Amino acid sequence: MHRSDTARGGVSVAASRLARLALPVLLAASAAAQAQTLQVLHWWNSTSENKAISLLGERLRDDNLEWKSVLIPGGSGVGASIVLKSRVLAGQAPQVAQLNGPVTQGEWADLGLLHDLDAVAEAGKWERLLQPSLMAMVQRRGHVIAAPLGIHRINTLFYNRKLLARFNLAPPQNWAQFERVATRLQQGGVAVLAQSSEPWQIATLFETLVLAEGGAQFYGDLFVRKDARSFADPRLAQALQRLRAMKKWIAAPLQERPWTDSARQLAEGGAAMMVMGDFGKGELNAWGYALDGVFGCVAVPGTAELFLYDVDTLVMLAGDGADRRAQDKLALAVTSPAIQADYNQIKGSIPALRNPDLAKMDSWSRASWKLYARGSAVQVPSLTHRMATDELTRDAMVGAVHRFFVTDTVSVAEAQRQLALIAAATSRK
Ligand code: GAL
Repeated sequence: MHRSDTARGGVSVAASRLARLALPVLLAASAAAQAQTLQVLHWWNSTSENKAISLLGERLRDDNLEWKSVLIPGGSGVGASIVLKSRVLAGQAPQVAQLNGPVTQGEWADLGLLHDLDAVAEAGKWERLLQPSLMAMVQRRGHVIAAPLGIHRINTLFYNRKLLARFNLAPPQNWAQFERVATRLQQGGVAVLAQSSEPWQIATLFETLVLAEGGAQFYGDLFVRKDARSFADPRLAQALQRLRAMKKWIAAPLQERPWTDSARQLAEGGAAMMVMGDFGKGELNAWGYALDGVFGCVAVPGTAELFLYDVDTLVMLAGDGADRRAQDKLALAVTSPAIQADYNQIKGSIPALRNPDLAKMDSWSRASWKLYARGSAVQVPSLTHRMATDELTRDAMVGAVHRFFVTDTVSVAEAQRQLALIAAATSRK
């Protein structure tokens, strides 16, 4: 006889009714007592990033989950992936990690380091819920391996509205206009560009220049397909030249400082413009500076029709299986429309969804979302933020671009050669 049958036979009808009524309460009470803690390794440490994490933590508590941050600070995740690797090797993997980039995630999945999220994707109907390109991005060999949080647009030019208005200048839409605006500002004694010399921030500027110069196809030839001939192309030379020429618009000496310092400089009128992912918007908002009030956003000149993307994703590290349910619950929760709307509003990004609540977005996010939703023809993966290629290639290329920028004796041709060598050495033949 089945166990429950035996049990049922042994209790009176009234008692069993009572038990039925009391059971959900008891379950809820015991579950509340044992909210499950999940360690989440990430690199978010700025005001808006902390706000976004607080929101996630709060909402996850409704699901009896406790988000415990393992913070490895460093803009764009410099350092976080190194620590993640060493913790995994030491047998001390966190349960969850911010691991961005489809190629990297695929490598981790192939090594058996990640739990798949197939059941979650099925339950949450991700096929219908998520942007088609994101659904493709989070899959490897037919398995779903990551949960997307939001999509940042990297080719964003921020400007201080008061400073431009003072000189009666409109934000530039192409590079000729940029030169005119910059010249006028500089003549007026205004620092043109807030720009740090941190490698990933130089690389951000560089990749937007490549995009402006060569378009999506050429950009993909370089950083996704690593096509040898493209590195000798005059369009890359032109982008490198422009990168070097941008130095005249940045106050000397160059400073290696966090991205939040550049955002602060822009907001306080210390510089007129800044090229930065739209997480800059989240940050400025968190400090109380309003879009279309203190600052404005346009696309980086020459890239208005393109969306250079950076998708934040969480992966679930494979353990002994004990945390599996909690990991699944977290993945399901963060992709829910309600959390997506509120989280992305704070973060400055757009939701990963097909049908997000447009009313909850500001004008720039709405325009960005409409552009992104046009599909793969306009979507370009950021090299700097690991969307285009593997971590090794990304690190080496960012390093080469940085060296070129800070060392005037490295010629354009030499930088092209170095990038070509990196592409060749990291290509799998
Ligand atoms: C990106 C990340 C963003 C933001 C930024 C600055 O790589 O996707 O969410 O945190 O780095 O650290």
